Amino acid sequence: MPRASRSDSSTTARRSTSTSSAATKSVARKSAPTKPKLYPSKIDFSDATRTKLVELANQRLADTFDLYSQVKQAHWNVKGLDFQQLHEFFDAVAAAIEPFVDVIAERVTTLGGIAMGTVRMAAATSTLKEYPNDIAAGTAHLEAVRDRVAAYGAANRKAIEAAGKLEDPTTEDLFTEVSRVIDLQLYFLESHLQG
Ligand SMILES: [Fe+2]
Repeated sequence: MPRASRSDSSTTARRSTSTSSAATKSVARKSAPTKPKLYPSKIDFSDATRTKLVELANQRLADTFDLYSQVKQAHWNVKGLDFQQLHEFFDAVAAAIEPFVDVIAERVTTLGGIAMGTVRMAAATSTLKEYPNDIAAGTAHLEAVRDRVAAYGAANRKAIEAAGKLEDPTTEDLFTEVSRVIDLQLYFLESHLQG
């Protein structure tokens, strides 16, 4: 795997060198995703508004991808007598979140931006707290996932408001759809911890 990765990097570097004589491997690597450009588009937003919408949607993309992976972490690591039920439940929560990774990434690119959608890009900018790696019991995982789903839902609601202020009802509607699903998952999670 590392060998394949090195090989890919050097292939990229060779391609860069062929188009730009001064390019080096490290320059090519550093210049890649640091300052995403905005592609021209006939969509009816100014470039300044599109830049803000892209930034907003990329933040939601990072949080969504991170949240999805964190719920899978619970799915994989939960232990105890309720294992089977919670193992399947966490997988259902993750499955409800996962489609939004693609939909939000494509909203970024629809607006002319570059989707910052790798695992490492998402990890670098996610606003969520890292998932604990020292818990096992069902209640501990339910609480950890509940807290992160709640934090995600709150940040998403702020993004709905921000998209509204930028007068983009389409992005606003997308985030609202996310909100409906996330609030429902929060209800499911809290129902396991109540009563
Ligand atoms: Fe699984």
